[in-house]
Amino acid sequence: MNTILKKDLEEIDEILEGAKTTALSYLDDLNEAAPNLGVSNMSKETWNIETGLGAKKALELFNSHYAPYISATAGPNFYGYVTGGSTPAALLGDWLTSTYDQVSSVTPITAKHESDTIALYRELFGLSSDFFGSFVTGGTTSNMVNLAGARQWAYQQMGQDGSKNGLDTLSGILKVLAATPHSSTYKSLSILGIGRDNLELVNRLPDREAMDIADLEKRLSIHPERPCIVVASAGTVNTGDFDDFIALGNLKKKYKFWLHIDGAFGGFAAVAKDYTYLVNGWESADSIAIDAHKWLNVPYDAAFQYTKHPTLQRQVFQNGNVPYLEGDGATQDFMNYVPENSRRWRSLPAWFTLLAYGKEGYAEIVGRNCHLAQELGNRIKEHAQLDLLGEVRLNIVCFATKIDSGIDTKALLEKINGSNKVFLTPTVYKNRFAIRVAVSNWRTGQKEMDTLFQIIVNATQSLSK
Ligand SMILES: Cc1ncc(COP(=O)(O)O)c(C=O)c1O
Repeated sequence: MNTILKKDLEEIDEILEGAKTTALSYLDDLNEAAPNLGVSNMSKETWNIETGLGAKKALELFNSHYAPYISATAGPNFYGYVTGGSTPAALLGDWLTSTYDQVSSVTPITAKHESDTIALYRELFGLSSDFFGSFVTGGTTSNMVNLAGARQWAYQQMGQDGSKNGLDTLSGILKVLAATPHSSTYKSLSILGIGRDNLELVNRLPDREAMDIADLEKRLSIHPERPCIVVASAGTVNTGDFDDFIALGNLKKKYKFWLHIDGAFGGFAAVAKDYTYLVNGWESADSIAIDAHKWLNVPYDAAFQYTKHPTLQRQVFQNGNVPYLEGDGATQDFMNYVPENSRRWRSLPAWFTLLAYGKEGYAEIVGRNCHLAQELGNRIKEHAQLDLLGEVRLNIVCFATKIDSGIDTKALLEKINGSNKVFLTPTVYKNRFAIRVAVSNWRTGQKEMDTLFQIIVNATQSLSK
């Protein structure tokens, strides 16, 4: 064995202590640390990798060169995109995931654990056992895998097996209907060969991002004989709006479509009793995507993928039959349902955090985050120079400066983020440049929200003429 490697093995205890010290120095500062650091002033280093330095020296170099530039995106003051941090139990699970280093497609215990964890989360989300599920790397992959199942279904409806015979014959015929799809839906359609341009936008309800169901029905009734795919939102990114799943379930009884729900973050409405009404009827979906690395607050990267049609999904993702990968028949062979063959043990952090904090813990996190978002929305609504651009239904606050205030919203965003005490991200909503606040971190509380509002107020005031 290489002598440096041998020494590292002997010193594994000290090496892991070093990792713990580095981790704690990040976590201890997380509540106050800058949420956005650039890397433009980093020193330029060239690393000599001829002989190797050993893990302890590598950690020293990491700590001096890279660690100081790590943004506190996992902290309570980062409100960009929809992120979330990592609960203590999720972190514990993630550390152990790396330690055990299991191939979660081959080892029976990881497959059993994944099945058990998927079932626990079905219960958390109020979904029945009609839904098969697996862990994938994120919301994008979850949408893509579910839409692959949808595509396979559409081919089947037309007497074809796309997974075997190729996929080029439905272009222009297979439509995907959605009102406010996330960008990852377009990406998925491109990957899957359905094509971005075959997504047809359904009208939205007035002043909403939700689908106008009457308009959807009009479109469905043009070619009622053709199968199609409807992608619905459980939480749009700009305003956290939800489609009407009860109405969609009723339409499903009349028309031939696969209903996919993108609940990457909004699926968590199901866990807090004041918000479950938002997902009423979502059990009529054929497939659902829900991220774990967002509101569940587990480390990247993890998401749930639920489907009522595992057989179709398997037709798409079946690995070529090779004797060396034959399972024992008793173990759930997840690799035949998802893109990756070798898979990280993603269910472990998710299992730890749910066992640790339970349904009540998650109801509290989601309820608190939503309540704080609501409160911020009300404060913005009352502010003389700010416009709240959409009702706060869940955890997203979307706002801009009032048109007659003379303040540029882009300049306001720069000023707010320039504080480097909070971080918000931009969007365009109702044809206006706007600012989004997404509250999804388990650490975010009243103190953080008061600070955020004060920073917004001060920045607005400093830009007033
Ligand atoms: C509604 C929605 N769908 C899908 C995604 C994509 O998720 P991921 O970034 O985990 O791939 C996101 C992420 O922001 C989202 O908000």
